[in-house]
Amino acid sequence: MSQTDHAPESPPSPPRRVTTKTLQRMRRDGSAISMLTAYDYPTAEALDQAGIDILLVGDSLAMVVQGHETTLPVTMDQMIYHAEMVGRAARRALVVVDLPFPEGQLDIQRSVQASARVLKETKCHAVKLEGGSEQANRIEAIVTAGIPVMAHVGLRPQNVHVEGGYRIQRETEKLTQDAIAAERAGAFCVLIECVPVEVGRAITEAVSVPTIGIGAGPHVSGQVLVTHDMIGFNSGYFPKFVRQFADVRGAIQQAATDYRTAIQNGQFPDQKESFE
Ligand code: KIV
Repeated sequence: MSQTDHAPESPPSPPRRVTTKTLQRMRRDGSAISMLTAYDYPTAEALDQAGIDILLVGDSLAMVVQGHETTLPVTMDQMIYHAEMVGRAARRALVVVDLPFPEGQLDIQRSVQASARVLKETKCHAVKLEGGSEQANRIEAIVTAGIPVMAHVGLRPQNVHVEGGYRIQRETEKLTQDAIAAERAGAFCVLIECVPVEVGRAITEAVSVPTIGIGAGPHVSGQVLVTHDMIGFNSGYFPKFVRQFADVRGAIQQAATDYRTAIQNGQFPDQKESFE
């Protein structure tokens, strides 16, 4: 028997981390980037193990987790609370955290400080900020502080009351200039929300950083959805761009109904589930 027969198996090496450089390479190579939102440890762990490249602790958590009507109520402290769980769970994915309203709208130093909290207090890697041209100085200041920034152009949910609702954004020239300004300011990636297919294509052709679309058609570097929409956990309205890949709400309701029925019928717990 050789010595190696007794050698303890070495633990599997951790997966190679997706970085901003990986994403740039993926864009160059034409490999599609996958991104989903995550707000808690077990979901982030499952999405990470499924090979999703980017996890976003989105301010959408105000709507899909906290039950608010818009993204506006979630606070920076609450974002940090969720980001801390997601950051610990993700071993491979790059984790991006939204700057919630109004952390990306007030003075620039406040945005830099809020962004620094993300890197200091969680294991996450980058922040996302709504806006393009008018946010260039802010993006530059955050990147200069050593914090990668993903810009978010097109439909900007934090602008809901200015826009009077959630509308498809069609101004190709303005949106393209927003993305170019964000790239010039140092953004490593541009998220494009709710624009016609040709606008998604034009923006992607105008910048060299990766573009991630949500309702922006197929001619972008990658796609993102809100996980609760994608797995069918929400009730109510689904935007046109959502594809539901599972019926988790239905599965939970079925399990809860079966559990209640088993209790009422005296079938739970049985002998196996009880102590002698
Ligand atoms: O907060 C969020 O979930 C977003 C979506 C556009 C993905 O920003």
